[in-house]
Amino acid sequence: MTAAVNDHNISELTAFSRQLTAPQGFGDASLIAAAPGAIRLLGGIPAPEALPVEDIGRATAELWQDRDAAVASLQYSQTHGFVALRNWIAQREGVDPRRIVMTNGGMHGLSLAVLTVVERGAAVAVEDPVFPLFLRALEVSTTQTLPVPVLADGFDVDYLAGRLAAGERIAAAYIVPDFHNPTQVTLSADKRQALIGLAERYGFYVIVDNPYRELRFAGEEQGVAVFNQSDRAIHVNTFTKTLGPGWRLGWLVLPDHLVDPVIRLRNRGDSHSPTVTQTIVERLVTGDGQWFDRVLAHANALYRERAGVLIDALHEQLPGAFETQAPEGGLFLWPRLTDDNIDPDALYQRALAKGVAYQQGAFFAASPQRESARYLRFAFGDRTPDELREAVHRLALAF
Ligand SMILES: Cc1ncc(COP(=O)(O)O)c(C=O)c1O
Repeated sequence: MTAAVNDHNISELTAFSRQLTAPQGFGDASLIAAAPGAIRLLGGIPAPEALPVEDIGRATAELWQDRDAAVASLQYSQTHGFVALRNWIAQREGVDPRRIVMTNGGMHGLSLAVLTVVERGAAVAVEDPVFPLFLRALEVSTTQTLPVPVLADGFDVDYLAGRLAAGERIAAAYIVPDFHNPTQVTLSADKRQALIGLAERYGFYVIVDNPYRELRFAGEEQGVAVFNQSDRAIHVNTFTKTLGPGWRLGWLVLPDHLVDPVIRLRNRGDSHSPTVTQTIVERLVTGDGQWFDRVLAHANALYRERAGVLIDALHEQLPGAFETQAPEGGLFLWPRLTDDNIDPDALYQRALAKGVAYQQGAFFAASPQRESARYLRFAFGDRTPDELREAVHRLALAF
C-alpha cells in the first residue's frame, strides 16, 4: 500500500472534532497539579536558567524601537514562514529551504503530519512506550496502532520488519529518535537507515519527532541526514525545549511532494505562524550566527550536571532499587524498578505523600502489557541539583 496524501480528512475534521471526548489518561502530565511544596519531576520542561531571557528582551525592545519593522511584524506573512529563519534552519538540517515549513510548535507539526499522510482508519506503528500526546494527535485520523517495542538502541525495526513481512500494512511509523520521551534512548544510525529502508520498500511515511535532538551532552550523534534525504520522512522539530514552549514555534522538514499539501492544509487553518514571534526568533538566531549554539552549550551544561546529580543520588540513597542508564542528552531518566514485588501504584501514592511527583511508566504504555509500569519517568531539566537530591531523599522515604 502506498500512503496517500490525505485531502478527505480535512473536510471531516469539524464533524469529527465535535465527537472528541477525553479518553482515560488524556492530558499533559506536566500540567498535573502536585501538592504545594511537592518537587515536580513531571514534564520535559527547559530549565528557567537555560532560557535566554535577557537576549530576548533586547531583541524585542529593538524591534519595537524600529517602527517599520514593528509594523511589518504586525502584518500577515507567508504560510511557509520567514525566509531568513527557514534558511538558517535549512542549513542546520542540510536541506533546501523550500522544504522547511514553520509551525506553531512540535504538536502542531505532528498534527499536520497526521492530517497529511494518515488516511482515516489506517494503521500507524508507534513506539511502546510512546509519547502519549502523539496518540491524541493521531486520534483525529485513526486509533489503529501497531505498538513496536523500544529497545536500548531505540525502536525495534526488526520487529516491525517481521510484522510487515507477515502482511500487515501501515500508513506511517512514529518515532522520537533522539533522547526518546519517555525512555531516554537514542535510535542507532543503523536502525535509522533500516527503518527508512522499510518505509521506502513498503510505502509508508516515517514521522520523525525530534524535540530533544539539540540537547546532547554526551555520546555520539546518530545523524538526521538519513531522514532529511528521504522522500518518506517528515521531520518534526520545535524551539520548545531550547528557547521555551511559550513561543509555540517549530518547523517541519518535508519531502518536496508534501510541501504543497501541508501549505494547503495550513491555509484551511491558521494561515501561518505568528509574525511577531518569527521576527524575534529570526533576529536572534541569525544575528551573529553563533547565538543559538551558545544557548545550547549553556543549557546542555546544566542538563549534564542535573542528570548526573539525579543518577548519583539514586545510587547513593536507593542502592540497588533501580536499573539506570546515564542519559546522553534530553530531559528524562527512565529507571526500572529492580524489585518486581514493589507495587508501582502504591509507591507513587507514597511518593506523592512524601512530596515528590514523577510520571508513572504505565502512562506511556502503547499496549496492555505491563512492562512499562515497572518504570518511572523523572524529568530533571527544570529542577536544581538541590531539588533533585531532595526529591530522591523523599523518594527514599517513600520506599
Ligand atoms: C516527544 C515530544 N514531541 C512533541 C512535544 C511537543 O512539543 P511542543 O511543545 O513544541 O508542541 C513534546 C513535548 O513535551 C515531546 O516530548
